[in-house]
Amino acid sequence: MALSLISKVAIVTGAGGGLGKAIAKTFIDAGAKTVLVDINKDYLATAVSELGVDAHGVQADVTSAESVQNVIDETIKKFGSVDVLVNNAGLMDNFAPVGDVDLKLWDKVIAVNLTGPMLMSRAAIQHFLAKDTPGGVIVNIASLGGLFGNRAGVRHDFFPFRAVRLIIFT
Ligand SMILES: NC(=O)c1ccc[n+]([C@@H]2O[C@H](COP(=O)([O-])OP(=O)(O)OC[C@H]3O[C@@H](n4cnc5c(N)ncnc54)[C@H](O)[C@@H]3O)[C@@H](O)[C@H]2O)c1
Repeated sequence: MALSLISKVAIVTGAGGGLGKAIAKTFIDAGAKTVLVDINKDYLATAVSELGVDAHGVQADVTSAESVQNVIDETIKKFGSVDVLVNNAGLMDNFAPVGDVDLKLWDKVIAVNLTGPMLMSRAAIQHFLAKDTPGGVIVNIASLGGLFGNRAGVRHDFFPFRAVRLIIFT
């Protein structure tokens, strides 16, 4: 049976990238109005132009609370509500082992991969609770690296919490 998301509104972060664009396309193909979020203006413009009229782009940095709130506000202004949030934006750590990790890169990975989903989820949940019919869905894109150890890649050693994937909030 084909999935129908007609009348639903989704937000996908990191939607200028490979996986995020494919996720956004899946939502649009299922009938959802979809807001594509990315920090990279050029990637975002390309993805929005490829996905057509049901796609709307908002350039934002998921590590900034102000930028994140703007995503929720813009989505409500454009499509009236938010029903689904996909936390997909994420960075790799160049697979540096713990002994070699660069602290600047570590801080960036923590900000984008951990603080970003928290800020996006917090803002979305506040909207989910305020709706006439409260509810919504949050999907967190993780990695097998959050479930299993590896020979290199400090985020893999320390990121088991990224295994949390799906929250249905009703
Ligand atoms: N590709 C894989 O093999 C793989 C494997 C495991 C997990 N993942 C996870 O899947 C997700 C997507 O991976 P991908 O391969 O499509 O990555 P990608 O690099 O192609 O796309 C990530 C996108 O996130 C955007 N982004 C980065 N920082 C941002 C920020 N601060 N605010 C908003 N957007 C930001 C980038 O501009 C980029 O367009 C990531 O969370 C990644 O960790 C991917």
